[in-house]
Amino acid sequence: AITVDPTAKGAKIDDTMYGVFFEDINRAADGGLYAELVQNRSFEYSTADNRAYTPLTSWTVDGTAQVVNDDGRLNERNRNYLSLGAGSAVTNAGYNTGVRVEEGKRYDFSVWARAESGTTLTVTLQDADGTLAKARQVAVKGGWTQYRATFTATRTSSDGRLAVASSGAAALDEVSLFPRDTFKGHRNGLRKDLAEKIAALHPGFVRFPGGCLVNTGSMKDYSESSNWERKRSYQWKDTIGPVEQRATNSNFWGYNQSYGLGYYEYFQFSEDIGAMPLPVVPALVTGCGQNKATDDDALLKRHIQDTLDLIEFANGPVTSEWGKKRAQMGHPKPFHLTHLAVGNEENLPNEFFARFQQFRAAIEAKYPDITVVSNSGPDDTGSTFDTAWKLNREANVDMVDEHYYNSPQWFLQNNDRYDSYDRNGPKVFLGEYASQGNAFKNALSEAAFMTGLERNADIVKLASYAPLLANEDYVQWSPDMIWFNNHASWGSANYETQKLFMTNVGDRVVPSSATGTPSTTAPISGAVGLSTWATTAAYDDVKVTSADGQTLLSDDFSGDASQWKHTGGGSWSVQDGQYEQTDVVAENTMVSAGDPSWHDYDLKVKATKKSGK
Ligand code: AHR
Repeated sequence: AITVDPTAKGAKIDDTMYGVFFEDINRAADGGLYAELVQNRSFEYSTADNRAYTPLTSWTVDGTAQVVNDDGRLNERNRNYLSLGAGSAVTNAGYNTGVRVEEGKRYDFSVWARAESGTTLTVTLQDADGTLAKARQVAVKGGWTQYRATFTATRTSSDGRLAVASSGAAALDEVSLFPRDTFKGHRNGLRKDLAEKIAALHPGFVRFPGGCLVNTGSMKDYSESSNWERKRSYQWKDTIGPVEQRATNSNFWGYNQSYGLGYYEYFQFSEDIGAMPLPVVPALVTGCGQNKATDDDALLKRHIQDTLDLIEFANGPVTSEWGKKRAQMGHPKPFHLTHLAVGNEENLPNEFFARFQQFRAAIEAKYPDITVVSNSGPDDTGSTFDTAWKLNREANVDMVDEHYYNSPQWFLQNNDRYDSYDRNGPKVFLGEYASQGNAFKNALSEAAFMTGLERNADIVKLASYAPLLANEDYVQWSPDMIWFNNHASWGSANYETQKLFMTNVGDRVVPSSATGTPSTTAPISGAVGLSTWATTAAYDDVKVTSADGQTLLSDDFSGDASQWKHTGGGSWSVQDGQYEQTDVVAENTMVSAGDPSWHDYDLKVKATKKSGK
């Protein structure tokens, strides 16, 4: 029986309670939300991004063409360009099965080109069945200039190819094809069906751009890096300004990121869907398996200054240095940034917190109205988590970002997680969570758990499922909320749960109590699991916990890497005396193609609680 007292007043629920977490994972940006149809448009793909890449990935050549990196380049941040021979052509294969065009719709082609003697570029759109639009001709003469042409598709196809043929020798860069019909009609805009699916959730906030995407990498920026380092960490200044001047970078998830979807576009999207923007900046302590903290004080200070500049970019007047750049990009009015997170899932809580405090002090001194969000590390239990929470609580931090990916049983059994959180401590930003699957039972377990979030809306202020998007042909992480390919998108069962809650946010909790509900302390039976990161060089500790919080198995993996490749148990055994192990399985579920020495192993333990315990 459920007893409800409609006269009693429970916690107030903020309109911003439920939001989305956008990370460029699973090709969520290029080949996803960012509407660009040409893959590797600036010939910058590199083996440093992914061992399988070359500067001509996604291109085929008919005749002579080579990618050149010399002083004749378009600009310092766009290193490579294509030197195309007379009478030659290059063809781009787009994403998934090709370039997607729809009959009757317009597509904007652009290219930066130079040719010493005048030459004509013939640009075509075709698939195996023939032409998809009337060919366009572009006359090129002189130094680097941007040329444009517009196609109207005469047929619908998801297998299209964009070809550029040249009558004479020419240099090409930043070859681009955009649908005219983007979300809200913005140039350099977003793919409409995906943006509309996100908008239909009515998100209260957008957390971006990561995730592991932001807190890993060399920490150096492009201009500082003597070898034009590809694996530099995500830095917002790399992602603004004219797209041909945004230096591409390798992505933590093993592919190249163009940064065409950058900070300006994230702020614009948040504004378009009425959501609060919530950026995450790197804290210079890397998590996600890398466990390094910078000791370079000058670098730390520069990143702190970059963060202050970011706030000025979002909110500053057009007369300020960074506010002016925002205005030049087309948005003189401020973007109303109120919350900003420093760091993501750091494994070194003390090192993280020392640096976080420096960011926080600088931000609060200049912008006292900004809420600076800290985090609790990569796991939702254990010593890292406890230490991080202790430090955050002692320093009266406003808000702490927690993450967890657990079984549906865990979500059902932890509905009361926040009932006991300290009401005088930091507020909670549940920045990433998901039960491990896209099945109905997962969505249902998340819904049950969300009732616990909502009941605790006085302490849990923000919550977002993760990850948001996945291109079905480029998956690094599953489950995900919205799936897509180059022509279709579909929400998962979990999407429907999120939509139900997000489009029906209440004003206040009405206190209720229930009797006759099932016990939440049932012994486990069945698989419980934990994903962890390990390298072949130095392993992180791994721990598998039962649904009711017992440590079943742990290992520091100082031993031989080969045991990870096996299934069937290896040398692991359940340690907790209350449990009997029935099976242990280690599966290599993800390998980062960009850096194959990094693996994500899914370790599963099947154990049964012994009788009488
Ligand atoms: O959401 C996918 C990943 O999960 C995020 O990048 C990271 O923060 C977490 O480990």
